[in-house]
Amino acid sequence: MSNKMWGGRFAEAPDAVMEEINASIGFDQRLFRQDIAGSKAHATMLAATGILTQTDRDAILAGLDEVLAEIEDGRFEFSRTLEDIHMNVESRLREKIGDAAGRLHTARSRNDQVATDFRLYVRDAIDMLVAQIRALQSGLVTRAEEEAETILPGFTHLQNAQPVTFGHHLLAYVEMLGRDAGRLLDSRARLNESPLGSAALAGTPYPIDRDLTAAALGFDRPTANSLDAVSDRDFILETLAAAAICAMHLSRFAEEMVIWSSAQFGFIKLSDKFTTGSSIMPQKRNPDAAELVRAKIGRILGALNSLLVVMKGLPLAYSKDMQEDKEVAFDAIDALSLSLAAMTGMVADMQPDRKRMRASAAAGFSTATDVADWLVRELDIPFRDAHHITGQIVALAEQKHCGLEDLAIEDFKRIDQRIDDRIRKVLTVEASVAARASFGGTAPANVLREAARWKSALTGE
Ligand code: ARG
Repeated sequence: MSNKMWGGRFAEAPDAVMEEINASIGFDQRLFRQDIAGSKAHATMLAATGILTQTDRDAILAGLDEVLAEIEDGRFEFSRTLEDIHMNVESRLREKIGDAAGRLHTARSRNDQVATDFRLYVRDAIDMLVAQIRALQSGLVTRAEEEAETILPGFTHLQNAQPVTFGHHLLAYVEMLGRDAGRLLDSRARLNESPLGSAALAGTPYPIDRDLTAAALGFDRPTANSLDAVSDRDFILETLAAAAICAMHLSRFAEEMVIWSSAQFGFIKLSDKFTTGSSIMPQKRNPDAAELVRAKIGRILGALNSLLVVMKGLPLAYSKDMQEDKEVAFDAIDALSLSLAAMTGMVADMQPDRKRMRASAAAGFSTATDVADWLVRELDIPFRDAHHITGQIVALAEQKHCGLEDLAIEDFKRIDQRIDDRIRKVLTVEASVAARASFGGTAPANVLREAARWKSALTGE
């Protein structure tokens, strides 16, 4: 049997493989809410402009509500013969209300329909992801306040560099996540135009009112060029790019959690809730959730890459290639959403071992820069020379197998006569972090101020 949606031209049914490669209902059924909202807006507009009678409009709107309820309740039978969500909904509507259903597709094509549905979906997804990012930020801010004075080794090259506060470290991720939310919201602002009414590619001869449908669907305005409207998938690409950057941030944080929770570091402990055991090694507690968050960037970046490759070289306007946009985008959005949730859980769950963190921060002569700064500040020695003198002090401590704070004042004097007892006060990690109170620095006072700023920004939104 030929397809009932375009049966006029076709005599034969499609080959089974044709049906399999062509159908998108297996995944685009996720768009049912957006599809029905779009159709309701379209029908309302068609009646307002006199293209559709009030009677037909009322039948269509009531019928669409019934279809919506059927899908929501799991009573709807999706059919692969009907290809996609758009035709599944329309066909069911026809079963319910008869001929009036056939008038719904006036001045519309699946090309502008799918572009509209997907913009609405991605807009909702952005709102969900931004809310999740805000929740993770709030969780981090709470922990940052608790850990404002906790001292952690700050690394460069994963080598002990200078002590930092754990709160400052956590707030670094709050900043990254703030930019991630900003990028998603930028994408949202640009995608918020309605393609509906662009029809197949060239617009329509019917006297439609695109402003009306745009407003009904919460869009800022209709898209200005019908060819662009049905060919454009920038809105997904931008959202995936923002998602990939966010996933990259989560991956870095997850990697730190993996390192921190190892026996060698022992900076944090993740509870049974976010770890797994080993089937052979009874002592094991593996940070699987963190490892999976570390990995999710793979599929999210893969989605971006995949869609860029699909879109490149496509001539205007719609080509069926573009149906490949959905599975990867759905998968990437799901993966980021799950990663954000897992990260939020782990941030609340992790228990820092403050003693170990501090001891590790003090190792490796991490206050050497403070010694050099003291020489500059108190003895007016040029920084380059101070760096050299401090290097000699470090070498001496290394020789003696002790820390800088364990050197006697005579040891310092042997390297440079001018050094006196006052140098002692800059040798501790506490003094080091407290001194870094310039704007953006790691001092506990800064952490508390920044945490308070973020708190009010996050609740004031
Ligand atoms: N399922 C299609 C998609 O996702 C809908 C648009 C189909 N349009 C067409 N002319 N075949 O892209």
